[in-house]
Amino acid sequence: MGRSSKDKRDIYYRLAKEEGWRARSAFKLLQINEEFDIFKGVSKAVDLCAAPGSWSQVLSRKLRHSEADKSKVKIVAVDLQAMAPLPGVIQLQGDITKESTAKEIISQFEGEQADLVVCDGAPDVTGLHDIDEYIQAQLLLAALNITTHVLKPGGTFVAKIFRGKDVTLLYSQLKIFFPNVTVAKPRSSRNSSIEAFVVCQGYAPPVGYKPNMSNPLLDQHYDVDFNSLEGPNRVIVPFLACGDLSAYDSDKTYPLELEPGAGYNYHPPTQSPIDPPYKEACYLKKNDLLSKPETAGSSKTQPARTGPTDTGWPETSSQSDSSPRTESEELSERFQECEIQD
Ligand SMILES: C[S@@+](CC[C@H](N)C(=O)[O-])C[C@H]1O[C@@H](n2cnc3c(N)ncnc32)[C@H](O)[C@@H]1O
Repeated sequence: MGRSSKDKRDIYYRLAKEEGWRARSAFKLLQINEEFDIFKGVSKAVDLCAAPGSWSQVLSRKLRHSEADKSKVKIVAVDLQAMAPLPGVIQLQGDITKESTAKEIISQFEGEQADLVVCDGAPDVTGLHDIDEYIQAQLLLAALNITTHVLKPGGTFVAKIFRGKDVTLLYSQLKIFFPNVTVAKPRSSRNSSIEAFVVCQGYAPPVGYKPNMSNPLLDQHYDVDFNSLEGPNRVIVPFLACGDLSAYDSDKTYPLELEPGAGYNYHPPTQSPIDPPYKEACYLKKNDLLSKPETAGSSKTQPARTGPTDTGWPETSSQSDSSPRTESEELSERFQECEIQD
């Protein structure tokens, strides 16, 4: 297997690089837009959990393209991680579940309101499904809370959701604020993933609702089994597969020559991550420093650590490829690998 193996395995990963998107996630937002026309009339938008920035790229291209006066376009992007700059995008680094970050975002919109809020937030998945779903739900609710402060009446909120066992409770809470809530599954999101996106349209908070930061939207002490609710007590949210159904299937492997005779041209990832949190872990793994200390009598010795300039990425099958990758390419591919889980 060479460095092209991932290009073969994941068509959207490959297309993202070819079209200059920082992550394959760009296609999810583009396919949601194909179905719901979410960018229509939008000049101000918030992108929550934005790194490495492919949704911000989509927003920047779409909103700035459709607005003659580019100064009218405002895009605020937020993430825990630093993001390389993008034209017309104000970047904030922070935790969206923290009041201070929420206040910073809101202050960017002083006197104005956003037409669209998007959130592709995902926790570092632990594999413990209950915990992953709970943290994801908390991200969505933090995003909703920020949305209630910045979104204009009639505006749209799009957010990633894990279709876990308490998802009905989340739908119910979204329905309090939006008359139209649909769950969308873009073609570029793998069928094998529980990921989907809520598309919430026509923002209309309940009469008398005052946005506040201390509102625990998901009360962890609730003891009702919401999934057993029936009739009008249970909000049924329409589920919609979106994106052209003849578009590439994200669960399929494609040959490198998509068109016969067209040839294959390898593209490096579009944007290297600035300071990925897994850098240290990869260094430790590559240098065999993650293992437990050797017991007495063992002949195996630990290699000496060569310092922070030695990135020490772990061996991967792709390194058998004849053309060596630069550290920057390695970093980018690692970063986009988390995307491949989606
Ligand atoms: C799937 S990635 C987003 C990809 C992005 N939409 C794009 O197109 O490039 C999920 C992001 O959520 C961010 N994230 C997770 N928890 C967060 C939090 N509490 N506050 C801010 N960002 C968070 C992660 O740092 C990660 O960059």
